Amino acid sequence: MSKSGEVWAVILAAGSGTRLAASVGGVKKQFLLWKGFPLFWHSAITFSNTPRISGLVFVFPPDQVEEMKTVVSGFDGSDSLGLPFKVVAGGVRRQDSVFNGLSVLPPKCEYVLVHDSARPFASGPLTSNIIDMLKSGLPAVIPAVEVTDTIKEIDGDTVKQTLVRSNLRAVQTPQGFSLRVLIAAHKMAGEKEWDVTDDASMVEMLGGQSEDSETAGVKVHICEGEESNVKITNPEDLKRLEEKIP
Ligand code: CTP
Ligand code: MG
Repeated sequence: MSKSGEVWAVILAAGSGTRLAASVGGVKKQFLLWKGFPLFWHSAITFSNTPRISGLVFVFPPDQVEEMKTVVSGFDGSDSLGLPFKVVAGGVRRQDSVFNGLSVLPPKCEYVLVHDSARPFASGPLTSNIIDMLKSGLPAVIPAVEVTDTIKEIDGDTVKQTLVRSNLRAVQTPQGFSLRVLIAAHKMAGEKEWDVTDDASMVEMLGGQSEDSETAGVKVHICEGEESNVKITNPEDLKRLEEKIP
């Protein structure tokens, strides 16, 4: 991997926001307006202001792709983005949306950041740190924070075991990868029908199962995440948007 390879960010905005929908009149959460712009646009602005990111891929619900091409170009026309970008249709699962996003990255791209547009507070310095770590040669870097609750594994409605909290982390996005490694992980996920909630999970499994010299044993590294980098998921998270309005 070269240090000069391009970094692109894939901004995931193709979900249906089911857990929040009833509280916001059925609007998909990535399109909720916050400070005058849809939620997904805030991540785009953060990435466009982060040095060393060469381009963005927006992933939208299939029936909104054409409309969103115009919308995103309109914002860009206001000169707020200043980066090349592509717009693609997402898939049924988050991992399908990521796959579609990866499939349009240009040949010069060597590193990719995969980001949930439902995390509008992820910061530039966090993103920059992940890029530094990727460029230093790590194949996969994800932001993680300590958990404050005691977490238990359950079996039906009884507790199976209590996990050791000091070994646990809650992970966030953007998650950064060598593009070759992430593509290998998605390929294996497709072959083995893995169903996961983040990209790092696939890379973890790839590391354990690959027989290819480039990806066998590959590890996912963590970096310091941000307490403020929450995912807008449930109705009670909406107050976080209100609190952040200056
Ligand atoms: N996402 C996506 N494509 C999907 C599913 C999710 O691009 N098929 C994106 C969402 O838009 C979101 C991020 O992945 O930015 C994290 O997913 P999540 O918080 O689960 O969002 P939703 O799937 O939209 O919400 P819900 O699970 O409540 O339906
Ligand atoms: Mg979801």
